[in-house]
Amino acid sequence: CGIFAVAGTADAAPLLMEGLTRLEYRGYDSAGLAVQQGSEIVVRKEAGKVSSLQGLLASDPVSGVTGIAHTRWATHGAPATVNSHPHVADGIAIVHNGIVENHAALRAELAARGARFVSQTDTEVIPWLVRMAMDKGAHPFKALNQAVARLEGSYAIAMMARETPGEIYATRNGSPLVAGLGDGCTCLSSDLNAMAGLADRAVALEDGDSARISANEIDIRDRAGRPVNRPLLEVPRASHAFDTGGHSHFMAKEIYEQPAVIDQINRLYRDRSLLDQLFSLDAARIRRINFVACGSSFHAASVARHWIQSMSGIECTVHVASEYRYEALPRIYPGEVAILVSQSGETADTLAALERLRRLGMPVIAIVNESGSTMARLADITLPLAAGPEIGVASTKAFMAQLVVMAHLSLHLALRQASPTITGRLRDHLLRLPALIDAALHNEPAVIEAASGLAGVSSALFLGRGPFQALAAEGALKLKETSYIHAEAFPAGELKHGPLALVDDAMPVFALAGSDDLRPKLASNLREVTARGGQVHVIGDRESMLSMADVASGMMTVPRAPEFIRPMVAAVPLQLLAYHAACVRGLDVDRPRNLAKSVTVE
Ligand code: G6P
Repeated sequence: CGIFAVAGTADAAPLLMEGLTRLEYRGYDSAGLAVQQGSEIVVRKEAGKVSSLQGLLASDPVSGVTGIAHTRWATHGAPATVNSHPHVADGIAIVHNGIVENHAALRAELAARGARFVSQTDTEVIPWLVRMAMDKGAHPFKALNQAVARLEGSYAIAMMARETPGEIYATRNGSPLVAGLGDGCTCLSSDLNAMAGLADRAVALEDGDSARISANEIDIRDRAGRPVNRPLLEVPRASHAFDTGGHSHFMAKEIYEQPAVIDQINRLYRDRSLLDQLFSLDAARIRRINFVACGSSFHAASVARHWIQSMSGIECTVHVASEYRYEALPRIYPGEVAILVSQSGETADTLAALERLRRLGMPVIAIVNESGSTMARLADITLPLAAGPEIGVASTKAFMAQLVVMAHLSLHLALRQASPTITGRLRDHLLRLPALIDAALHNEPAVIEAASGLAGVSSALFLGRGPFQALAAEGALKLKETSYIHAEAFPAGELKHGPLALVDDAMPVFALAGSDDLRPKLASNLREVTARGGQVHVIGDRESMLSMADVASGMMTVPRAPEFIRPMVAAVPLQLLAYHAACVRGLDVDRPRNLAKSVTVE
């Protein structure tokens, strides 16, 4: 979910709508806002995307200079207007990101005390807790703090009270919230980028903090109610990040930004100072690496595992964060570190894993795109992705950036084993990568042709071996996210142990011909598919195409690249395939149904 709020002197609604549009990638099941209009708080909310709310405001406008707004990714209660935020209890309006785990017990208690609930959401208990605390004489700011003391779960909250026009109150625990100060106005947002152009200085609230903001003041208190100063963050300038830059969708724009992103990362990591931070962990003694991540970030880490193990012999394991946070862990050994990989730096499961690791005393390195994020703040060492804001819900350029940063990391770790000449040569490969990605993008027409064959398909298989197995998993994830085609990935050698039963002439099979050594093995696996009438599309360079011409009914050729950087090159047709499949099926590419970009709830 995304929260945006403003207190100032200008009409709040257009500013709130701009903020919501920028935050829409965080959830788009419904949207709403509340503004202080005279002595009343008025609410407008609507199921569906932010544009539906815009339509409602055009026919039923609001006016006022203080307001809170929300774009929702439903957790409790269907995505209907009644469940949209803000939720109101007798002049208290609240927007909330997170989950109130003990809402059922609170709901029963509050109903018995006279609360009248209208929604099925967990959130609605919060304004009632505040209202009842105020009925006992508490100031709204204090009442909010008393209310959240009763909550179990996670939250970022912005609130207005009828009694205190011009003021907004906020608090967080486990969900992000940033407060920004601009010229004659203040704002709150779930992310820093969304306040570009409105605020020039910002601070991120920390867990347990609460804030009282008015047109020209931000007063932040810690858990004990003491005034605190949080480090100042730089707000990006009003940027091109929020327009599609001539492309039809953000996803296309972000795919095409990849050569520039890689260039930027190569420059950033050229001087060793970022990676030399690892010496503070006594990098020479890193013996075991535990990667923890979700979604595409998990797949990127799965590729890096192969690089690190093969180049430096350090044992690596890769864990899905939602499991790792609860798993019984074996003994931790000296020299063991965790690497958390995340675009947003706010994914709730990855953050929970981070907290657990810190309690266990394991050093944590975070590889994160959002530099002001909670993960970046809490990790011992942060390696930036520098991919710029990613708006398309299906990750593309951030995934690519993760691969490139982890390739640099792998080379750094390899230095203790391989000769500098070898690692130097591999580093040169990374310098050539932008041109190779550019060339892979030029093969888009072949991908468009393959995607056109997916218009009426209901299932697809992705196969790979070695690191390309992780790429296959990423290809399947991308396709299902954007096109709603059921897609699964398997290590190609595993096909005969079950998935082969699914193969018929209606099921396209996409095979990643990545590593030269394993190519003959992959070709044998694919013959098992064609022998059963399956249609195989091979993704590989011209050389692999020649050796697989007999099995391939379709080909997506990529430029020949040194083996080390082939996973990055292979990612391009997979991304384009998912993109064009969604386009031919007429779907909302950037905002797939039921998903959100930043999943800040468990
Ligand atoms: C969501 C997004 C995915 C992303 C995953 C992990 O599910 O839709 O694209 O890979 O979260 O997000 P993170 O920000 O931690 O990389």
